[in-house]
Amino acid sequence: MCGIVGYVGPKSTVDVLLGGLKRLEYRGYDSAGVSVINQQGDLETRKRAGKLAILVDDITKTPLGEAHIGIGHTRWATHGAPTDGNAHPHLGGTTQKLSLIHNGIIENFAELKSELLEAGAVFASETDTEVAAHLVAAEYDKSGNLIESFRTVVRRLHGAFTILVMHEDEPGVVLAARRNAPLVIGLGDGENFLGSDVAAFVEHTKRAIAVGQDEIVILRKDSVEIENFAGDKVTREEFVIDWDASAASKGGWSSFMAKEIADQPQAVGDTLMARLGSDGNVHLEELASLTSLIPNIDRIILVACGTAAYAAEVGKYAIESWARIPVSVELSHEFRYRNPILTKNTLVVAVSQSGETMDTLMATRFAKEAGANVLSICNTQGATLAREADAVLYTHAGPEVAVASTKAFTAQITSMYLLALHLATARGTHSLNELQEIGRELLKLPAQIAEVLASSDAIRTLGKNFKDAKTVLFLGRNVGFPIALEGALKLKELAYIHSEGFAAGELKHGPIALIEQGQPVIVIVPSPADPDSLHAKVVSNIQEVRARGAQVIAIAEQGDTEVAKYAVEVIYVPKVHQMLAPILTVVPLQIFAMELSAAKGLDVDQPRNLAKSVTVE
Ligand code: AGP
Repeated sequence: MCGIVGYVGPKSTVDVLLGGLKRLEYRGYDSAGVSVINQQGDLETRKRAGKLAILVDDITKTPLGEAHIGIGHTRWATHGAPTDGNAHPHLGGTTQKLSLIHNGIIENFAELKSELLEAGAVFASETDTEVAAHLVAAEYDKSGNLIESFRTVVRRLHGAFTILVMHEDEPGVVLAARRNAPLVIGLGDGENFLGSDVAAFVEHTKRAIAVGQDEIVILRKDSVEIENFAGDKVTREEFVIDWDASAASKGGWSSFMAKEIADQPQAVGDTLMARLGSDGNVHLEELASLTSLIPNIDRIILVACGTAAYAAEVGKYAIESWARIPVSVELSHEFRYRNPILTKNTLVVAVSQSGETMDTLMATRFAKEAGANVLSICNTQGATLAREADAVLYTHAGPEVAVASTKAFTAQITSMYLLALHLATARGTHSLNELQEIGRELLKLPAQIAEVLASSDAIRTLGKNFKDAKTVLFLGRNVGFPIALEGALKLKELAYIHSEGFAAGELKHGPIALIEQGQPVIVIVPSPADPDSLHAKVVSNIQEVRARGAQVIAIAEQGDTEVAKYAVEVIYVPKVHQMLAPILTVVPLQIFAMELSAAKGLDVDQPRNLAKSVTVE
């Protein structure tokens, strides 16, 4: 997600800001910018789309004035394509004396923007962030009190935000606020820092304070005050950063893979944000252009490759079960060569993290030429696939740097749950109460993922213990089957081990011949409460392989004591609506593959032979 740096102190501010943004590059971004208040008291801003080097080159050629206060930002586009104009900082008000940067998603920006437009505000960008800049500037023009104006505005914002602001009239202070997004303070001697994480300032100070939810920071070079959104003073404990330099480039994580697995509560939460109300109702404004088509859709084809295709397989179960529309999943590179039957009532949904996978791009172009409508589910703002589709439903997983996909996968599945509920609501295939109940279950997923991550010691140990395994098999049933396929792919990609996923019911039709003494088999077990008693069937599959010498690791629902009789290890996940179980059961498999790979001394972020986006057919 976006990178944020703030500074007040005697050092050359431009160097501090650009150095901090450099250390935050690991967070992934597509534009960068800085604002300073120079020694003449003037606010100066420079921002460029593209990599930080472009901004650095621009500033080297045309330096900013000497300054001792400033804010800097690297942006991962969510609202508005990655352009110079959409890059942060954004200036507020008619005088343009206020500069603001933001990490997160302001859910209610549209209504606030309408209010500002009616008041005559002129916008220079498509971003939600600029709305906040104009709001603070307008309040400040009325009150003349920057802190009070800032407090008034942040209390009106819904969603997730870390915001930094400064005003030419107040050249000694940077204000910051956070809600559902990270913010830390760096404490120096005669200088102080702000950052989206400590990597922003770790080269200057190891003393830090983590800012709490709904808190405001008043940062000056020789003082730091924290208050809540009501204006009451707050005290926060200082801590010492214990990172080594190499870890700092990955935000303190041992690898991007480890970071992105841990990011999944936020990736799923951000993908749900502004699309699912607390009442469980889905609001997908992005699909407005498909509204007239939805009643007539008679077939949905999900096209994707690799991990995205396994996400699509989970989506198939949800869309067909809830929206009662026939769904098939096709590998993009196979789809367009089999002369499929497509009509104007076919909806093709292309699932892609990068939005640049050539196989999937070619499949969607073929589908459009054949008269079908195309929706893309994409994680990269402004990607080719997003621009060529008739509509796009973005996942908000943030940049995924590790080649093997993890948080984008769970965000893709989340997006398909939302799509399925949206279609079901529009077509009235289930009662609103039923669909709202599922929606409310979706809202619990980020916390449940966090619970799985917090209890991952056992699966980490298993990954290390199986580092010499020559082959690992994965079994799953119903929505657990695509997770078995994804678990096998993760192990192939990360540990270069032959592994294979099977539908558990398929085992006796041949693959069981593979089972020999000591063969590791990981089984995704349905809930014991499953109405189709798939649980009993899978338990008997486990007994079949155990009888032939397999070592079984079960991924099962908390409280499932039956399966514990037959597995050498049971990794429990929280009890959830069965259709939502894949979001939780995949996490231990991701960790297992990562730990096994690391135990083999392999590069978990950049596996051999692989590219993050396969842009050739
Ligand atoms: C996932 O771990 C792999 N890196 C790969 O299978 C990937 O999912 C596939 O290439 C599709 O990429 P996309 O989502 O960017 O289209």
